[in-house]
Order: sequence, then structure tokens, then C-alpha cells
Amino acid sequence: MLDKLIENNRIWAEKKTQVDPEFFRRLVNQQSPEYFWIGCSDSRVPANEIVNLDPGEMFVHRNVANLAPPQDANYLSTLQYAVAVLKVKHVLVVGHYGCGGVRTALESDDHGLIDHWLSPVRELAHTHHHELEACSSQTERVDHLCELNVRAQVRNVTLNPITTAAWRAGHDLTVHGWVYSIANGHVTDLGVSISNEDERIAVYGF
Ligand code: CO
Repeated sequence: MLDKLIENNRIWAEKKTQVDPEFFRRLVNQQSPEYFWIGCSDSRVPANEIVNLDPGEMFVHRNVANLAPPQDANYLSTLQYAVAVLKVKHVLVVGHYGCGGVRTALESDDHGLIDHWLSPVRELAHTHHHELEACSSQTERVDHLCELNVRAQVRNVTLNPITTAAWRAGHDLTVHGWVYSIANGHVTDLGVSISNEDERIAVYGF
């Protein structure tokens, strides 16, 4: 099975080189992506493929339920590198409908370690329990919480000191919230983009 993957890799590299003989040589020297993707680990949501970007064009961080927790060293390290070193112009927080992590956060039974990771999503569900209870099915409830979760993570990124420092230094940086549909392959922009401190204060109050 793994032989097949290596074989796929050689075919892929060959194709890339045929189209652009300098492709890999160019990437050896530097990466200068304009986008930083914060998405779910779900195998059905492959970051570069969905937006048709090549290696070198997008810096990527993925975890269960696309979280941006203010105390997570892994996420913070990637955010810092993307914003302060690579100077990306766009941070894309990308959730997806039917997210297993979000669905798990709505369940009351014990799932072990993942319950700790998902606690911010559970808290979010608690805060919005009235509107979630008004949903007509569990599927609709999960999808609504997926959107709420993207909004919450966009808020986290905009409130992060790394983001604030970049804005104060005059960097061109916008944080966006998207949701991807596994059912049709389409991304929807939730229209919650924030490009500077004034916009953040206008939306979140601080
Ligand atoms: Co997911």
C-alpha cells in the first residue's frame, strides 16, 4: 500500500517538473505564501487542493475542529511564523459542515482526551443553546455550531497579540471566516473579515 503512495509521489513530481522545470528548485530557496490556513484535520478538507494552490503558496495549520485556542503553543507558533516572519496577507479560518469534532462537542458521553480539546466548542454551544435548540435537526444544529465556531476562532485570531502587533506595525493583514461544504466542494465566506484594530473594536467592542 505504501509503495503505491511512493509511486504516486514520483508521478506527481514528474508532472510538476514537466509543466515547470524550475518548480522544485525555486521552492528550495524560499517560501513566500500570502495565505495562512487554519482548518480541520478532516481528510475530506485538504487545504491546498480545495483552493487549487501549489506548494509554497499557503502556510497551513490543521487540528480537530479548526480551533485557534489562545494558549495552544502549536497554533501560536504557526500564527507567529505566518504573520511575523512570512508576513502573509490573509488568515483563513476554515470550518466545514458536518464536522465530527463539532458534533462530538454536542454529545454528553465520554470521548476521552478529545473532550478536553473540544471544551471551547462545548462552551460555545452552551452560550448559544437557545438558537441551537431552535434548530430542526441534529444535522442543522451541528452545521450552525460549525459556523459559530468559525466566528469564534476568527475572533480569537483578531484578538491575538501577534495579530495586533502586525496591524500596529502597518502590515496588510486580513482575517477571514469560511465554511466548506463536503457535499458540494464549495467554500462560503461568512462575511466576518477583519482587517485592522478599528474594525475589530467596532465588531467585538475591544
Ligand atoms: Co472537522
